[in-house]
Amino acid sequence: MKEEKGKDNKSFAYETNNLISSNFNEKNRVNKEDNIASKPINQLTNGLLGWYSVSSSEAIKEGKLHFFTIYNEPLVLYRDREDIVRCVKDICPHRGASFFGGEVINGQLVCPYHGARFSSQGSCTNLDRITCQHIIDSNYDNYAKSIKLLQYPCIEKEGYIYIYYTGTAQANIEDFEIRSSINSLLPDSYGFPSLEYEYEEVYVDFKADWARIIENHLDILHVFWMHGNTIPDKNVNRNTITSFNQIIKRDNRQIESIYSYKTNGKEEFIRIKFVPPGRIFIYKGSPESTRYIQVLDHIPLGNNKARVIVRHYRKFLKNKLFTNLVLFSHLQRRTFYKIFSEDYQVLKTQTFNEQMGYIQKDNVKLLGEDKMVQYYWDWLQNALIKEKPWEIHPTDASTNTVHDDRGMLYPPENPNMAIKNNRNILIKLLTRALFPISLILLLI
Ligand code: FES
Ligand SMILES: [Fe+2]
Repeated sequence: MKEEKGKDNKSFAYETNNLISSNFNEKNRVNKEDNIASKPINQLTNGLLGWYSVSSSEAIKEGKLHFFTIYNEPLVLYRDREDIVRCVKDICPHRGASFFGGEVINGQLVCPYHGARFSSQGSCTNLDRITCQHIIDSNYDNYAKSIKLLQYPCIEKEGYIYIYYTGTAQANIEDFEIRSSINSLLPDSYGFPSLEYEYEEVYVDFKADWARIIENHLDILHVFWMHGNTIPDKNVNRNTITSFNQIIKRDNRQIESIYSYKTNGKEEFIRIKFVPPGRIFIYKGSPESTRYIQVLDHIPLGNNKARVIVRHYRKFLKNKLFTNLVLFSHLQRRTFYKIFSEDYQVLKTQTFNEQMGYIQKDNVKLLGEDKMVQYYWDWLQNALIKEKPWEIHPTDASTNTVHDDRGMLYPPENPNMAIKNNRNILIKLLTRALFPISLILLLI
């Protein structure tokens, strides 16, 4: 966690240098109070366009390109010369090649087609490599000015990479009007002292609708039936649907649902917090003292394609050696993969289309326990109508899907990841057993 703090400082420097002082329009920067004042107190300020956590810091390695899509738009992340993460539209401004197969040399992005190199600011630094000045002669200077990468604002904080997604990447990053505060997403800003925790993380990609996956994670009822045999909690099983009292709190930043046992005094079972556009916190008790937090980030890669990054923060089992010894990470991953496979059985059938982008109230009959989902639908319906993010980069049958395939890093139904994880568990157990066995063999 210490290293991440280091990265935080770096990213904060970036935020200070690039987002505030030098480039971003100060007058257009978010004024949270203004935003809040302009909405009724229980209406969420954030819509579908804005800050998304799209990756963990660890996944963005020096000298490597990380491809993904968001709302069908192909993008690439990489670390520049100053170790600052950049989010660039995956299209070379010379002749439109993808950077797939390209390189990062000394922190500069290099196109695989004709070798154009780009600085962090997006300018071509070796223009003479790709042009014959005598051919474009008088236009050379104009050309030199106009060949620029298109980017989105990108910040690294608390071990996450966030991008500010609007649907229109810009040549000058200072031209973005940042309308929402990134603080509305940060665990620390909700009182979770994230540096006090260790965490495990898994990525899973689904061929399923992004909004349906969020819905699933807000849904307390399915946990007992669908995950009853998997979740290691004796109160969560198929035979018992525990009776809860539910309190829902709504304000401009979040919708929070708190479940406490009806039969067991006021003891809390769990609380689920939705922070738009794509983050969910699941924990128990108060943020300051909770022993574990799950942070789930949902990334709308494309139509019926979504990525979930799950981080399980914990205050217990912090000793690395012991954690390693009991294979805690592997065993926890195994539970995650199992839970996601169970969810995927249903999610893959709940596709997105014009009629089902959100479910109309008269299509279904919700229970009182579905209140959280209802509030989510209300928000989603309004945001889809207002911002239409899926219409910015539409796809049809003629769309080249190479970018989609590249964006899907973690196969749906995740058999490969689960198999690999199980294999690792087996290998580690065998290696550990090998030492005492060889000792015994030596002795006899
Ligand atoms: S298309 Fe990238 S350098 Fe030509
Ligand atoms: Fe689930």
